[in-house]
Amino acid sequence: MAENKKQVSWGGRFSDKPDDLMQVFGESISFDSRLAPYDLQGSLGHAAMLAKVGLLDDKEFKEISEGIEELAEEVQSEDFPWKLELEDVHMNLEQALRSKTEAADKLHAGRSRNDQVATDMRLFLKDACGQLRTGLEGAMSSALELAQRYATVAIPGYTHLQRAQPVTVGHHILAHLEALGRDHERFSTVADHANVCPLGSGAIAGSTLPLDREYAAKALGFVDAEGNARLTANGMDAVADRDVFVEFATACATCAIHLSRLAEDFILWNSTEFGFVDLPDSFTTGSSLMPQKKNPDCFELVRGKTGRMVGNLQTLLVTIKGLPLTYNRDLQEDKPPVFDSLDQLSLCLAVVTGVLRKCTFDEEACRCAASDPLLLATDLADYLVERGVAFRKAHHVVGELVGLAESKQCVLPDLSDEQAQAICEQIGSDWRDVFDLARAFGKREKAGMPGPKQIADRIKYWQSLLG
Ligand code: ARG
Repeated sequence: MAENKKQVSWGGRFSDKPDDLMQVFGESISFDSRLAPYDLQGSLGHAAMLAKVGLLDDKEFKEISEGIEELAEEVQSEDFPWKLELEDVHMNLEQALRSKTEAADKLHAGRSRNDQVATDMRLFLKDACGQLRTGLEGAMSSALELAQRYATVAIPGYTHLQRAQPVTVGHHILAHLEALGRDHERFSTVADHANVCPLGSGAIAGSTLPLDREYAAKALGFVDAEGNARLTANGMDAVADRDVFVEFATACATCAIHLSRLAEDFILWNSTEFGFVDLPDSFTTGSSLMPQKKNPDCFELVRGKTGRMVGNLQTLLVTIKGLPLTYNRDLQEDKPPVFDSLDQLSLCLAVVTGVLRKCTFDEEACRCAASDPLLLATDLADYLVERGVAFRKAHHVVGELVGLAESKQCVLPDLSDEQAQAICEQIGSDWRDVFDLARAFGKREKAGMPGPKQIADRIKYWQSLLG
């Protein structure tokens, strides 16, 4: 019993120590030790507040802050002896601080592990969003370089994985860049939502002690643009709420899905059937059996890990779903999916950054695929619209021309003027001009279209943002 009292901070009312199995079952130190820097930061902020309101004297505060600094170094240099029997990061660090100064016994005044872990995670998530934004900037810069290098190389754009209309490699890569740009913004929003301080909520109902919540929040950087403290407004909500976790996992899953779709495009383009792009040897692998193979594993893994990140979001939602207010121990399971999403997405971003930097397009293969006149069938319909034919009729006319060319086993522009005019008299002798790709792109110079000026402008826009 005495041993138990010493071991865990909640041991006072217990006469038996936890079963070995329960210790293994209940521990979170194997994964929440990575919160240590944030837990120490949170403790320092809380201690500074306790000192400010007179619940720690100067000497006690000094000893606590020096102890925290030493612990931070031990954690950083991976010297810290994490103990499973101390359950989690909070109790491990509190005990370690206690071995440095008796003042540590005063640190938990007005605080519970419930608001403590909520604070740690908010600090963690603010950092995580920053890391992912940096990772995204890398991937976006690589994509931008590629878009710039092949800005005007025409390729077919696809719908239903059928050739639809010509675009350029630049336009296509920029489409992915737009999506990643939204992810970048999304992570700022998540960081902003994380930027609210739960400290002072205690277990659920705050504390009778004269806490200064604003002071602690400011000490920890939970402030708005004007430097005002941002505080959670309801202690019960503050310790039960995991919205920011869900938002973070959602942002990770969304970003992963964007990377996965990009990956899928490159996997297709890299196949012999398309042959548009060559992937660097350094990010592909061979087959143990088939000597000729060079497989796009980097992109396949991005696609595969996306499933994992979607799963992490699902895990969180299901964990939280049926919980009565407020804290329930189920919530300890909220951390592994968050950590995993951060780690996996960071890796995916780094890999995409590396591969895109070294991809090369086979311009000849692209040009050959984009020279299919059928890609400009819609432009021929537009040509007729400009000559007064109603679009539905124009669509039908071009459909007939396509059918005729097919039956004559020739390409569309090889039909004679007479054959074409027999189907629609508005077809002039200049109708084949629409099959000129440069003309097709030149006529697409409104916002969002693949005209060369549009692409150049958008490249400039992203350059100014990404530097
Ligand atoms: N390790 C716990 C968790 O992550 C810390 C909070 C414990 N709170 C409690 N009331 N047992 O959820």
